[in-house]
Amino acid sequence: MEKQEFLKRYLTDRRGTYCSKWDGLEEKFGESDLVGMWIADMEFQTCDGITEALMERVKHGIYGYSFVPEDYYRVFSDWMERRYHLPIPREWVRFSTGCVTGIAWMIHAFTEPGDSCMILTPVYYPFHNVVTNNHRNLVTVPLDYDGHGYFTMNYEAIEAAIVEHQVKMLIQCSPHNPAGRVWTEEELDRVLSICEKHHVLVVSDEIHQDLVIGDHPFVPAAAVSGGRYRDMVVTLNSASKTFNLATLIHSHILISNEELRKTYDAFAAGLNRTEVSLMGMLAAKAGYETGEDWLEGLLAVVKDNYAYVKETLNRELPRLTVCAMEGTYLALLDLRAYVDPEQVEEFVQGRCRLGVDYGEWFGAEYRGFIRVNLATDPAYVEQAVNHLIQGVKALKTI
Ligand SMILES: Cc1ncc(COP(=O)(O)O)c(C=O)c1O
Repeated sequence: MEKQEFLKRYLTDRRGTYCSKWDGLEEKFGESDLVGMWIADMEFQTCDGITEALMERVKHGIYGYSFVPEDYYRVFSDWMERRYHLPIPREWVRFSTGCVTGIAWMIHAFTEPGDSCMILTPVYYPFHNVVTNNHRNLVTVPLDYDGHGYFTMNYEAIEAAIVEHQVKMLIQCSPHNPAGRVWTEEELDRVLSICEKHHVLVVSDEIHQDLVIGDHPFVPAAAVSGGRYRDMVVTLNSASKTFNLATLIHSHILISNEELRKTYDAFAAGLNRTEVSLMGMLAAKAGYETGEDWLEGLLAVVKDNYAYVKETLNRELPRLTVCAMEGTYLALLDLRAYVDPEQVEEFVQGRCRLGVDYGEWFGAEYRGFIRVNLATDPAYVEQAVNHLIQGVKALKTI
């Protein structure tokens, strides 16, 4: 679908719907008159196929206990095969009520209190909390930052930390939020081979898999090098970022290794309840069946929004770094050349009137970065960029 048609059909005002992004500004930032550029959901209605599937169920009016039909597994596997050459056998698939919940369950199923779990920072902040809140030892290894907006993995540091802390689990973010990287197969091969060497289980959060705008494809960890590492990987993914379904709380846990599956299933048997979300399941199925054209339209919007941010800020504020965004719809901006990192919040919220995610939420050393959500109306993107330009110009530091 063309970008203009997508915007015309799906761009929607969300105010007054209890949405965190706008209606939650006051609670999050203490002010409600900010341009909402934070959190990771979209200003767009989901695709028609999903809305129709949900409407049909709403009309039926019964939300009782349900099961996942065989069709679901086929439709999901077809999506994974069509897009990533990774058909998913039915027996690999388990469900959770969100990818972060999935991470928590993996931590409980496969590690003990006090075990070390590693994350590569800056990374989505619940990755930090889910480890510490579950009383595991959090090991953070910074990504390498080249000073020009590009993050890479530091393999030596990763291996050294694994050895030093006897790391049991790497919680990987792929594509990476907020670094914006879509890891190449070669990069994944290197990190996975280190984990293989040291018997580290990899939990790969691939929730952003379908949101790729760069020039190389997303490769699932389970497909790297022809599937060589798949038995040491648990993959978490869902249709929730792809089709804007976060609160329908329906995600996948994919486990190819039979032993790991048994361990997980034994753990899951002790959980109070692991029903699937009926509406989440119906929505994901309809998305995988009918949503590809919608997704093309979304990606066209995100790609153009990113190009606009990059071109405009590069031109107007040449020392502000717009980090690479090969995937996700979350762009990281490094403001440190213009604004004292200690004053970024005062500058961005106080002066520029923006509600954003701050770099230090993702890792203490990233104070001075902000993350902006580009799955939104181009008019908001323009407004946010203009506010930043005017704000910096008013500082008279250029
Ligand atoms: C990498 C990553 N994982 C998980 C989530 C949240 O997923 P869920 O709502 O399914 O827990 C997000 C949301 O931004 C994310 O960026």
